[in-house]
Amino acid sequence: MHKIDIDLVEMTLDVMKYAIDRISATEHPIGKPKKAEELKNIVGDTVTPKGIGGEYAFNLWRQHLSKANVPVDHPRNLAFVPASPTRAAIMFDLVTSASSIHGAYWMEGAGGIFCENEAMSWIVSLTGLPEGAFGVFTSGGTAANLSAIVTAREHWREDETYKREKGLIITSIGAHSSIKAMAKVADVDILLVDSEEELSGDALRKTIDNLNFHQRKRLFAVVATGGTTNAGIIDDLQGIAQVCEDEKLWFHVDAAYGGGALAADSVRHLFNGIERADSITIDPHKWMFSPYDCGAVIYKDPELAKAAHSQQGSYLDIFKDEGAHGFNPTDYQIQLTRRVRGLPLWFSLATHGTDRYKEAVERGLELAQIAGKMITQHPDVELVRDPSLSCVLFRRKGWQPEDYTEWTYKNHKSGFALVTPTKWKNGDTFETVSRFCFINPDTTEHDIQMILDSMK
Ligand SMILES: Cc1ncc(COP(=O)(O)O)c(C=O)c1O
Repeated sequence: MHKIDIDLVEMTLDVMKYAIDRISATEHPIGKPKKAEELKNIVGDTVTPKGIGGEYAFNLWRQHLSKANVPVDHPRNLAFVPASPTRAAIMFDLVTSASSIHGAYWMEGAGGIFCENEAMSWIVSLTGLPEGAFGVFTSGGTAANLSAIVTAREHWREDETYKREKGLIITSIGAHSSIKAMAKVADVDILLVDSEEELSGDALRKTIDNLNFHQRKRLFAVVATGGTTNAGIIDDLQGIAQVCEDEKLWFHVDAAYGGGALAADSVRHLFNGIERADSITIDPHKWMFSPYDCGAVIYKDPELAKAAHSQQGSYLDIFKDEGAHGFNPTDYQIQLTRRVRGLPLWFSLATHGTDRYKEAVERGLELAQIAGKMITQHPDVELVRDPSLSCVLFRRKGWQPEDYTEWTYKNHKSGFALVTPTKWKNGDTFETVSRFCFINPDTTEHDIQMILDSMK
């Protein structure tokens, strides 16, 4: 398996050709999922004692299995938070894999970690956090949020008074599902302010004032969102920062989706206050055009993260010895062995420069405004609220929830588009509506028009 022979050389060429075709293609079909039994019937047993051979397995991938995926970078994939990795970043993902770098410690991964840190320095500079702030690339926003919550909780528990208390955090119902999920993992309670619109400093203050004595004692952090997943709403970061400072609470900003917009001059002011955060999540695999998976967690004081996450073991001592000193990404998040997943982003940033990133993000913002206008002018649809960042919520007049689902499946099955329904809280009820999220700068106005026209 580890020897070189002619089959390996041929397979390398095949794989490279596939990668070149994929990287240079200007159109990809929107694939569609099949049931596992259907896929099994098509490809048969693939993992056998003697193997089915690389050529055969690769053909199964090309002809059948690859087509059962929906590429996130299709210009008419506007569902969830799609992605649009640059070609340079995808190329360097191949280089990253081929280089077999262990990205936990500087001793083994200095070259790769140096590059990651170059990219990280740019991201940190966008936040405006003070000197000394720094971050690390994670597997995604979920892992970044967890790393931040655990750091906050451990810091809080340094005080003997709280050692045996179960922590409590406050966020709003607009926060991403991963906040609730990660609070569970960290075994902290979560209190949700019941508004999907912007969480204001005043609403936060009122919520804190209404806590009983023991709840207030257990409260250690607030999570604000810098671009909600559902609607692109940015919380009142300035107001929330003030309350957190007054109340001595950890201030985390989840900007996993919206963080890319920190690069865009047109909306940067909406994030004012983020520079006062204790920790921030930003996902380069969302709006910074990185391939999966690449999240990031940034700390105002990285030493606090190190105190929470640094692993100890006799087999690890060497990494902490003289001569191995340098930045050790493992110390600042939950994972030990890690891919240098910031490397593709670094190569793309180095290739194109940060101005091109600004322009690409601005295009996503512009597409949301264009879609907003088209919806306003269209006879069959209307806006649920004004576009925010690159999210647009709209309703098809007269449609019931099942109509949205049917329409989604119809467009998906025909390979035309992937636009999924969501719900928007209207008073006490949740209305099913449709949603665009623009990331890909190659999405055209014609794409948007065709999608709207398909809502007959
Ligand atoms: C605001 C926000 N936070 C966190 C996440 C979770 O990120 P990931 O899927 O990279 O774990 C998402 C994903 O869409 C998100 O939009």
